[in-house]
Amino acid sequence: MTNIPNQAKQVVQLLQGHRSIRKFTTDQIPSETIERIIHCAQMASTSSHVQAYSIIGVTDQDLKRKLAEYAGNQTYVETCAHFLVFCADLYRLNYVTKSKGVDVTETLETTEKFIVATVDAALAAQNAAVAAEAHGLGVVYIGGIRNNPDKVAQLLQLPEKVYPVFGMCLGYPAQDPEQKPRLPQSCVYFENGYPDIHTVAEDLKQYDQEVKQYYIQRTKGKRQDTWSDMMVKTLSTPSRTHMKSFLEKRGFPLK
Ligand SMILES: Cc1cc2nc3c(=O)[nH]c(=O)nc-3n(C[C@H](O)[C@H](O)[C@H](O)COP(=O)(O)O)c2cc1C
Repeated sequence: MTNIPNQAKQVVQLLQGHRSIRKFTTDQIPSETIERIIHCAQMASTSSHVQAYSIIGVTDQDLKRKLAEYAGNQTYVETCAHFLVFCADLYRLNYVTKSKGVDVTETLETTEKFIVATVDAALAAQNAAVAAEAHGLGVVYIGGIRNNPDKVAQLLQLPEKVYPVFGMCLGYPAQDPEQKPRLPQSCVYFENGYPDIHTVAEDLKQYDQEVKQYYIQRTKGKRQDTWSDMMVKTLSTPSRTHMKSFLEKRGFPLK
C-alpha cells in the first residue's frame, strides 16, 4: 500500500482483512472492551440523530443456547463469548414523544421510519464489528435469528416497535479462515449512473471462476459452486416469509 497515510493504512488493512469467524476460544472479553465496542457502535451516523436502535448483549449461557437453537442451531451463537442482538427501535422515540404529550404513531408506522431504524441498527452494528476486529476479536453476523423472530423477541423481552434485525457473535478467534473473494469493483462501483449490465457480464463470469476456485481449494474439491450457482440456490425459494406479518405484529405496519 503506497501513498497511504499511516492511520489510513491501519484502518484499510483492518477493513480489507475482514472474514467472518465461527470458531472461538473460551476466553471472555473484558468489560472495558465491550464498552469501547458499544461506544464505537453509538458513534455511527444516525438519521436525524434519532438513534433508532438498541443492542442487547447476551452472555447468559442458557439464553445463548436458546438463541443458537432459534437461529437454526448455529452452535457458534452458544460458543461465542458475547452475543449482540441489534434491534431496530422506535419504542424509545414513541416513549419520549408521548412523554411530551405528542402522539407520533402515524409517523412511526411509515415504511420510511422502518428503513431509518433498520439502517441505524446496521450502521451501529458495522461500527461494532470493525471496533471488535480492531481489538483482535472475531465476529460473524447472525441473520439466522430472523428464523424465529417471535421467540427471540419474547426471550429478550423486546417491547412493541422493537424488532431484532440480526445478531453478532463476538469472541477471540480459534480459526484462521481464508477470505471470501468479493465481486470485482467494476460490478459494484459505477460512476455517474448505472451502466448497461451487459458491460460487466465478462467480469461476472471471471468472478464466478474465482469463487469456484475458492471453494475447490477450501473444500478439497467437494464444492465447486460459482457465485451465480450460489445465488440461484439461495434465491430459488423465498426465505423468512413470516417477516411481513411479524413486523406488522411488532408495530411496523409499513404504511
Ligand atoms: C446481515 C447478515 C446476516 C448474516 N447471517 C449469518 C448467519 O446467520 N450465519 C452465518 O454463519 N453467517 C451469517 N452472515 C455472514 C455471511 O455469511 C458472510 O459475511 C458472507 O458470507 C461473507 O463472508 P465473510 O464475512 O467471511 O467475508 C451474515 C452476514 C450478514 C451481513
